[in-house]
Amino acid sequence: MAEIGTDILKAKNLLEEGELVAIPTETVYGLAGNALNASAVAKIFTVKGRPQFDPLIVHVPNVNAVHEYVTDIPEKAYALAQKFWPGPLTLLLEKKSIMPDLVTAGLETVGIRCPDHPLTQDLLKILSFPLAAPSANPFGYVSPTTPQHVNDQLGNKIKYILDGGKCEVGIESTIVGMEDGEPVVYRMGGLSIEDIEAVMGKVRIQTHSSSNPRSPGQLESHYAPAKKVFVGKIEELLLEYPAHHVGLLTFQNDFNTPNQYILSPSGTLEEAAQNLFEALRAFDKMDVDVVFAELVPDVGIGRAINDRLKRAAATADRW
Ligand code: TXA
Ligand code: MG
Repeated sequence: MAEIGTDILKAKNLLEEGELVAIPTETVYGLAGNALNASAVAKIFTVKGRPQFDPLIVHVPNVNAVHEYVTDIPEKAYALAQKFWPGPLTLLLEKKSIMPDLVTAGLETVGIRCPDHPLTQDLLKILSFPLAAPSANPFGYVSPTTPQHVNDQLGNKIKYILDGGKCEVGIESTIVGMEDGEPVVYRMGGLSIEDIEAVMGKVRIQTHSSSNPRSPGQLESHYAPAKKVFVGKIEELLLEYPAHHVGLLTFQNDFNTPNQYILSPSGTLEEAAQNLFEALRAFDKMDVDVVFAELVPDVGIGRAINDRLKRAAATADRW
């Protein structure tokens, strides 16, 4: 198992040696390596079991650091960075050649974000390179939101997990690209569409693409737990599939059964987002065959929660 601790100098030394370290962010834990070192980046793909056509997000300490890695920051992208960094926003920008092609899977754009977590901020500030970091889970599985989640799945493949506690947002960053100078949302995430639109006006959302997705996080079956998930009204699902071992994933409803997970007893979407991936992992350990999940109110971060629930359910077709 990996060591779990808060020693950023230890993390720094490992990263400088080209090793990988799991890092906390406000969204989910990342599996980090030196973005400018192609062999460290190659390790990320190996440890995650990730296909090399799926590009990585690069983490920087602040917006000024971005200029070293991209040719240009379009005006509206800059405005978004100014407003929402550090925070759960990834911007796709045209890369300079210093950024290895392996990081971007040969694409001309690189995904960049400035994470809002004090420990990782401190780490990024003492490093002389940015950190490439996908979510610290095996490819296709649910993202980790605690150090223990990382240790459970990747603990035998990495040496150190930087412990930043439970992730405050709990859902991955919102990915925004630029087309003709206008922002386009490719992945719903921790930054809500409403927040973006308050600054930009109406934005285009393109979160579905079955073939050749611009952002493979768009693949329909992704973010999937091991158990089969069905999404809908719980009462109806219970009638439709009278299975014996059922787990219930609800927003606020209490069905008074032991195999249930209530995302937010107090009914807040922020709390539901924080608990979502923990909940999906919990069912994998429960004695249930299937999970029936209800959608949450489709506003704010609720839209990203519903997006992940539907993608978790999409895998059910493959079984
Ligand atoms: O919140 C997050 O974004 C977390 C934390 C660790 O920062 N990271 C994360 O990374 O979710 P990952 O690799 O699990 O998901 C990144 C998504 C992938 O679906 C990838 O295809 C897409 O971003 N992506 C990265 N660079 C891209 C690019 N240049 N063009 C299109 N999509 C890109
Ligand atoms: Mg991921």
